[in-house]
Amino acid sequence: MIKINHQEQPIIIVNNLVFGYEKKLILQGISFSLNRGERVALLGKTGAGKSTLLDNLIGLKLPQQGEIMIEDLKVENSNLNQIRKKIGFAFQNPEHQLFMPTILEDVMFGLLNYQISPQKAKEKARFLLAEFDLIEYENRSAHELSGGQKRLAALAGILALDPSILILDEPTNGLDPAWRKKLAQILLNLSVEVILIASHDLHWIRKITARGLILDQGKIQVDQPLSELFKQEKTLEKYRLFLDW
Ligand SMILES: Nc1ncnc2c1ncn2[C@@H]1O[C@H](COP(=O)(O)OP(=O)(O)OP(=O)(O)O)[C@@H](O)[C@H]1O
Ligand SMILES: [Mg+2]
Repeated sequence: MIKINHQEQPIIIVNNLVFGYEKKLILQGISFSLNRGERVALLGKTGAGKSTLLDNLIGLKLPQQGEIMIEDLKVENSNLNQIRKKIGFAFQNPEHQLFMPTILEDVMFGLLNYQISPQKAKEKARFLLAEFDLIEYENRSAHELSGGQKRLAALAGILALDPSILILDEPTNGLDPAWRKKLAQILLNLSVEVILIASHDLHWIRKITARGLILDQGKIQVDQPLSELFKQEKTLEKYRLFLDW
């Protein structure tokens, strides 16, 4: 059983998580906790296992050893409905999130699942699509959008549900500089309990998050304030986190 220090109010606790695909072990004993109010970056080279770790947090993949708690709920099949109501999760590939005939219906989908009336769901979805400059495309399918527009439509669908925990996998992929800036402002203005973002976009992520976890060789190798981490050139180089070259 995991001990909880109530003073620190952990929202996510990962305890000795082990996960692999077939014969290959990817996560080899991951432990960390994220407390209420924290904004955290998940860093690490391509293929390090960041997406695999995030998938485990929302129970898309289940630990082979160890356990994950989301507040007082253990991540296991019987709790997944409740856990997913708390977490807004953006896939690295936004196409995994957009499957309705139109993006308006995509953004309404989660709201309707929460028994919100069709009229209110439509109002909220249209409000978010407008915020993401997508209202003129509301009746198009995601297949007819650009890569960046798909990313924004998926984010609109996530934020529509007012999640208390936000987990985003490479959210700036495909976004132009103006959108990277606007998305930063949107995220900084949200009132959520915890934000965890996997990103290779180092200049962007340092504006959004304060704590950095570096995943490498199946373990969290570094857990530090980003203000300190970004001063440590040798550490950054070791984990292939180049701010410039
Ligand atoms: N469904 C799968 N089946 C088998 N191996 C997989 C599967 N998904 C990912 N992998 C492997 O697991 C490892 C970790 O992948 P993952 O997508 O978690 O990395 P990542 O850190 O998110 O990388 P990136 O920065 O490219 O997004 C990689 O070696 C990848 O090839
Ligand atoms: Mg990934």
